[in-house]
Formats: sequence, structure tokens, C-alpha cells
Amino acid sequence: MKKILLMHGANLNLLSRRAPEHYGSLTLMELEQLTARELARHHCAMVAYQSNHEGCLIDTLQTEAAQCAGLIINPGAFSHGSYALYDAILDSQLPTIEVHLSNLSQREAWRQHSVISPACVGVISGKKEHGYLEAVQTLLAYLNTQ
Ligand code: DQA
Repeated sequence: MKKILLMHGANLNLLSRRAPEHYGSLTLMELEQLTARELARHHCAMVAYQSNHEGCLIDTLQTEAAQCAGLIINPGAFSHGSYALYDAILDSQLPTIEVHLSNLSQREAWRQHSVISPACVGVISGKKEHGYLEAVQTLLAYLNTQ
């Protein structure tokens, strides 16, 4: 059974209490469950991890990559500046989908650039929790072509 790694970066542990107009109303656990259910529908397992610390995300990615077939990641604000996370994704060699709940193209200028995106096979932004379902479908379609 394929296993997919779902990672969340800084401040996403506060989902449901953070700007619902941008991020929706689901908690992180609800978002993880939604994603796990969609993966299960496609006979895939999931391992989920969230951290507010860049190094912890990198350590976990390095540890989990060998057991996983792909990565879905919402790096939070690390998207806009973490070259270390970018390198870690590249080094993992995992096909990666970057997801953002909010529509970055309609927000502050500094949010409109992600340093992570070039390491990813797909980027989904602005679809709130539906973006995670799309990320599963996009990632599994990509894996099926490999
Ligand atoms: C976010 C967008 C980021 O700019 C922000 O720092 C987040 C959440 C999103 O899901 O829309 O923490 O990644």
C-alpha cells in the first residue's frame, strides 16, 4: 500500500482559529482526516506531521521519505523564504504537491512568491480544504504516470 506524507508548517496548528476568510473553518485534525479519507478511498495510507519549526519539518521529511511515495505539503510562511525546506524536498526525491488554503495571488505581495514551488510537481492555492482533495488526486495521477 502506498503511503503519502502530509506536512504542515508554521502556525497551521491554529487552523479554525486563524482568519477563516482565508483558511476556512476546519481544524488541522479535521483537514488531516479529510485528506486521509480521500487517500484511503484510493487505497493509500497517510502519515501526517505539523511543526512550527523548520528544522523539525526537515528532520521528519528526511526520516519519512524512504517509506513514502509522495508528499503533500502546506509549508505556511516557510513557503516564502525557506531554501532549506526547498532543498529537503528536492533531496527527498518525493513527488510533491504544495497546497495553500488561501488564494496567495490576492494577498500581500510577499506571499505571492513561494521558494518551494520549483521543487514541486504541482501547486494548489485558494481552494481551502478542497485543495487537499485536489492535491491527493493530482499526486496519485502523477504517481500513476511514473
Ligand atoms: C498559507 C499561506 C501562507 O502565506 C501563510 O503564511 C500560511 C498559510 C495558506 O495555506 O494559505 O500560514 O500557506
